[in-house]
Amino acid sequence: MAARAQNFLCQSCGAAYPRWAGRCEACGAWNTLVEEGAAVPARFSRKGRLFVIETLKGDSHDAPRVASGIAEFDRVAGGGLVRGSVLLLGGDPGIGKSTLLIEVAAAFARNDHRAVYISGEEAVAQVRLRAERLGLSEAPVELAAETSVEDIVATLSQGPPPRLLVIDSIQTMWTQTVDSAPGTVTQVRGAAAELIRYAKRSGAAIVLVGHVTKDGQIAGPRVVEHMVDAVMSFEGEGSQQFRILRAIKNRFGPTDEIGVFEMTGAGLSEVANPSALFLSERELGSPGTAVFAGVEGTRPLLVEIQALVAPSTLGTPRRAVVGWDQSRLSMVLAVLEAHCGVRFSGYDVYLNVAGGLRIQEPAADLAAAAALVSSLSHAPLPADAVYFGEISLSGTVRPVPQSAARLKEAQKLGFARAIVPERTDAPDGFSLSSVGALSSLVADIARDGKPPQRRGSRED
Ligand code: TYD
Ligand code: MG
Repeated sequence: MAARAQNFLCQSCGAAYPRWAGRCEACGAWNTLVEEGAAVPARFSRKGRLFVIETLKGDSHDAPRVASGIAEFDRVAGGGLVRGSVLLLGGDPGIGKSTLLIEVAAAFARNDHRAVYISGEEAVAQVRLRAERLGLSEAPVELAAETSVEDIVATLSQGPPPRLLVIDSIQTMWTQTVDSAPGTVTQVRGAAAELIRYAKRSGAAIVLVGHVTKDGQIAGPRVVEHMVDAVMSFEGEGSQQFRILRAIKNRFGPTDEIGVFEMTGAGLSEVANPSALFLSERELGSPGTAVFAGVEGTRPLLVEIQALVAPSTLGTPRRAVVGWDQSRLSMVLAVLEAHCGVRFSGYDVYLNVAGGLRIQEPAADLAAAAALVSSLSHAPLPADAVYFGEISLSGTVRPVPQSAARLKEAQKLGFARAIVPERTDAPDGFSLSSVGALSSLVADIARDGKPPQRRGSRED
């Protein structure tokens, strides 16, 4: 029997296998292998075509980057969309990707840039209805419901190339060059490749929408991630109105910037001062909450970290965390136990970052530790204080970058003091308590609190 082509592709990670199996060995996903058409066989060899080689220096006629005017979007894109670049926008269904992109397209169109919105998921009437609700009906966005990449490219090649082309979504697109069903890895890859070729040729900036699976992977389009110039994800808790736009990869800009939006009845509105929003529903005076003075990219951001330490009835107590890293929580708990004499065995521990934000900075260690100890000892933390600092395994509190920006933001929002690592400078009129070791912070908090509840006892 002749050697068989590797035709079974994992729809999650794109790994190829010669035969079907229940589980993908590459990514561990179950039941994701699907047989797909073989790639078009290599044509009989032809002589290479000669092409022009250019220099790094050259004259580009137009501004290489065009800003949409939606500041939160432009910030994440690195100042605007680069000509001829392709951006993948991932996010859970219903998070607001289509809403964001119709707003961006309308902003481009209103600034006299040709903007085309192709929907493969919704009918033209549905997209129009949404635009009407958002008050964007008058914006000269060109709209179509299409799924064939060849038709789209042929139609767009007729006029001047658009400045922005939105493809909603890449999973619904199909190209004739590939012989498998829409939505499969091969089709998604083929359709993306065609569109990328069109972007480079015409100079249009393309935004591809990609759906995300339960575990946060951009399904199918994960195989597209390395082909595109930038990958952004649109995140948020469905029940909350905040939405965070985050750059995961960007060939033309930074990857640590975030954009903050609020989903309202009239679409997404920009949040220029997210700290005020994240702190707006603070409960003052309750134990277990600490305000963390963080930095996302170049922007300082204050958020509330909430902890609940409650007696457990389980043999193995629960450790749950939302918006922060599970292993960092384990580390902070271990340091508190080993170096500060705080016992968490026998207690369930929950940690939550308010507002649906996800924090990645190690600088949040100190705020998390303060919230945990505050909850355990029933001692509310001072309402006018912010916390930041990284905790090392030896129990010392280490300095973190950009402390001046953090403190300035805290001062702007009415905070009067900060609990920070040693060797941090304070702005005028701001009081600092430097902590060198985590144990001294624990002693300070516990001094004001009641002794911890014992397991099984109740308090009214
Ligand atoms: P949508 O942009 O369709 O999400 P996606 O394209 O990511 O699947 O957004 C749908 C959600 O947004 C829906 O649950 C309703 C909500 N929404 C508003 O709250 N206000 C609005 O003005 C609009 C248009 C949508
Ligand atoms: Mg949509």
